[in-house]
Order: sequence, then structure tokens, then C-alpha cells
Amino acid sequence: MDQQLLSRTAAAMVAKGRGVLAADESAGTCETRFKSINTPCTEENRRAYRGLLFTTPNVERFISGVILFDETTRQKTDDGVLFPDYLARKGILPGIKVDTGAKNLALCPGEKVTEGLDGLRERLAGYFKAGCRFAKWRAVITIGAGIPSHTCLYANAHALARYAALCQEASIVPMIEPEVLLDGDHTIERCEEVTEATLRATYAAMAAHNVSFEHLILKTSMVVSGKANARQAGVEEVAERTVRVLKRTVPAAQPGIVFLSGGQSDVSATAHLNAMAAMKGLPWPLTFSYSRALQNPALNAWKGQAANACAAQKAFHHRAHMNGLAAEGKWKPELEKAAA
Ligand code: 13P
Repeated sequence: MDQQLLSRTAAAMVAKGRGVLAADESAGTCETRFKSINTPCTEENRRAYRGLLFTTPNVERFISGVILFDETTRQKTDDGVLFPDYLARKGILPGIKVDTGAKNLALCPGEKVTEGLDGLRERLAGYFKAGCRFAKWRAVITIGAGIPSHTCLYANAHALARYAALCQEASIVPMIEPEVLLDGDHTIERCEEVTEATLRATYAAMAAHNVSFEHLILKTSMVVSGKANARQAGVEEVAERTVRVLKRTVPAAQPGIVFLSGGQSDVSATAHLNAMAAMKGLPWPLTFSYSRALQNPALNAWKGQAANACAAQKAFHHRAHMNGLAAEGKWKPELEKAAA
């Protein structure tokens, strides 16, 4: 465990005005995304699409790291450079998704537990050699009638803690992602309660497994109203409730917190981050680690056509820029119109 390397990596991930691109969609998730633009989900199309994102000129000003999917670590740019090497040369940290997906949790209807611990030590050693310096694991918590159960929170927290310990042992920064889904008709109060319980269980398990809080990054969902709830909370309320929960649960020793977008619109995800980052006196830097909220406009501009690559890069650069500003609390809605 190289503590200096872990500290350097974690600090770079959340450096001022920069955040992380999540480009680690599984082949199944890519299939859904590509279907929406009528593009076949072939290995070459996945390479071409991710390549255009990574090679976007000057995007490293706002992007500190990229979460890759296993397949992508072996793919190359049009010029034949392996993606992890290309990103590292550009000053962007390559990261890797290491979980193998959320599966039904036995005897807990409607709930999931994330798998992927078997063989993880060996896989991490391989990813380190390939240049990956951080690794993500996503746990999925669903809000519904009588759920999440204690069993679900405990099982996911335990898996997150074991994965985080293995990452630190391998000198790879764990990016722990317990995602409370926004699907459902629950209130924002319920989301706040569940997010707090999830984070409490996660940090308790990590303490029990000797995980070093100085050497990890939390990737969390925001506290928002359920998608189908009639009362959709405004930006300020989301920001206040999210930060309140984080202050209650996340140790100040931790180098930083990043957010997932979770199905929020592109601009909402930016506005929420901006409102939180603008708050004074927070113990940790806050930034983004979005997939959909960074990629959607680029994907829609690309439409699977090489001729649209420049337009897609422009759209990606714009969202990265807006979120880079939001991470410093310097974003304004007018800036969106200026680019339109
Ligand atoms: P979204 O920003 O689309 O929620 O994706 C982030 C992520 O990495 C999910 O695991």
C-alpha cells in the first residue's frame, strides 16, 4: 500500500475545477444508450464513441479522471494508443469499474447486492499494471414499501468495505458508490433518511475493515425527491439536504466527494453541484462524476456517425466546462444559453 501514491491520486481526482467522467457503462447499458440513437452496440462503435470523448481537445482542463469499463482498457485510439496510456499522457487519471453488477439479494424481494469480490485482488493487480489508479464499485439501494431493509444496507456496506480494503492494499484509490435510486414516488424526506442510513452503514463497515478514510473518494447520489413524487424539491433544498447528510456521515479526513447524476437532467445535475460547491466551510472538496449528465448531449449529437464527431466533442466539452465551473460554485444558468 503506497500511501503517498493514494494521497496524490485522490487529491488529483478532486482538484479545483475538475471532475471525473464515468464512461464505464457495461455492454448492456451501452446497448440501451446506443439504441436511443439507433446505433448498433458493436465493440468498434463503443471504441469509436469513447475515443471521441477521450480525444476531445482541451477537455483535460475540466476532467481529472475517467472511469473505464474492462473492455475499454484494452482498446486504442485511432492512432493506436491504448486508452489508459492516452489518458495518462493527457493528464487524466485512468480509473476502472471493478464490480460485476448488482444482483437480486436472496430472500430480500426488490433489493440488490453488488457482486465482484471473487478474484478481485488479482484483477486489481492487472489494472494497476495497465495504469488504472482508482476503482469504482456501485451498490444500488432502492426505496420502496418497507425497503431498504437492514439486510440490504448491511450486505452492500460489507461488500463496499471489502472492495475498498483490497483497492487500498493495491495502491488504487477506491471510489465507493452507494447509490440511492431516485426511482419511486417517495418524498425527499424519505430520500434523506435512506441516504443517511446508507452512508452510516457504509462508513461503519469501512471502519470495521480498517479502510483508511484519508485514501478514498465517496461517489454519492444527491438527496432528491422520488422521480414520481408530486413535489419536486428545488435546487436550494436539494443542496441543503444533501450537504446536511454528508456532514453527518462523511469523515472530514476524506479527501473529497463526487456525485453521480442518477437520471437528473444535464442542467439540474450542474445546478445542484453548483449550489453545494458554493457553500462555505465544507470539510471536503465536492465535484462531479457523471455519466449521463456529461454524455447525453454528446451521444445525441454523435448519432453513431463519424461525420458528427466534432459536434459531439463540442457538446461534451461544453458539459465538462459547465460542471467544472459548478465544482467551483461559479456556474450560472446564462452560461448555458451562451453556448446554445
Ligand atoms: P450517472 O451519472 O449516469 O448516474 O452515472 C454515474 C455512474 O457512474 C453510475 O455508476
